[in-house]
Amino acid sequence: MATTADELREQVRRRYAESARAVTERADGCGCGTGACCAEGESDAAKFGEALYDAEQHGQLPEAATLASLGCGNPTAVAELRKGETVLDLGSGGGIDVILSAKRVGPGGIAYGLDMTDEMLALAQQNAHDAAVTNVQFLKGVIEQIPLPADSVDVVISNCVINLSTDKPGVLTEIARVLKPGGRIGISDVVAEDHLSAEERAARGSYVGCIAGALSRREYEAGLEAAGFEQISVEFTHQVADGMHGAIVKAVKTGQPDAKGLPAIVAAVTAGCC
Ligand SMILES: C[S@@+](CC[C@H](N)C(=O)[O-])C[C@H]1O[C@@H](n2cnc3c(N)ncnc32)[C@H](O)[C@@H]1O
Repeated sequence: MATTADELREQVRRRYAESARAVTERADGCGCGTGACCAEGESDAAKFGEALYDAEQHGQLPEAATLASLGCGNPTAVAELRKGETVLDLGSGGGIDVILSAKRVGPGGIAYGLDMTDEMLALAQQNAHDAAVTNVQFLKGVIEQIPLPADSVDVVISNCVINLSTDKPGVLTEIARVLKPGGRIGISDVVAEDHLSAEERAARGSYVGCIAGALSRREYEAGLEAAGFEQISVEFTHQVADGMHGAIVKAVKTGQPDAKGLPAIVAAVTAGCC
């Protein structure tokens, strides 16, 4: 039976609520302690989670923030954040990238974390408190409808979340809306090689495990271009499944969304999930 987009989002929310509870209770959830939550495999610790951060960054973080790390990259390492900037982390989870961003932009800047899962938001608040950062704000909401005004953010980061969205064009349009002109993205995500069909991606892992919903490199580039971005690059960093990679996605907002271009990636997204 087909799964609707709403049902799929609820599955995602439940999965990550369980992960947050596992970290809070220091129990075994879906492998969060080993950083393997975003995928199902036993040997995923080196591909997902805390292993992707260096020793200096670990030193700036409370243990629970590190344990809650479920990403597939390290967006703060590539976003070149500057003092005084406003940063938005989409799907902020336990808050690891929000805390690191807040430290980079300093007291004159602010780091927002947006997440739809109450348990993750509570964990992130606690982690930010333990890390003694005050220039952070966690927002409850979905990345397809970002609760911030237009032209209000310098940098959007995200770590292994956009693949989980059932409305990728909606997310890319929203990112373009909230970014200031000249604003930029530094996103880590799972990205498929162009030759893999949606069905082949689904055969390599589940949707909630960050694999089946991944865009291909060409789909990502086309979606960003249609949403008004330039200087787009999608760079594979490490393989997470056959033909699928952790990737760094960078781009700069220069124009307005091209309404004609956006439906091009809708078909792929729908085939991959519902
Ligand atoms: C794989 S975890 C990544 C968390 C964090 N970025 C990290 O690197 O540890 C995915 C997170 O995104 C959130 N999420 C997934 N889909 C979302 C959506 N459509 N809107 C808002 N949050 C979402 C989940 O609640 C979860 O906290």
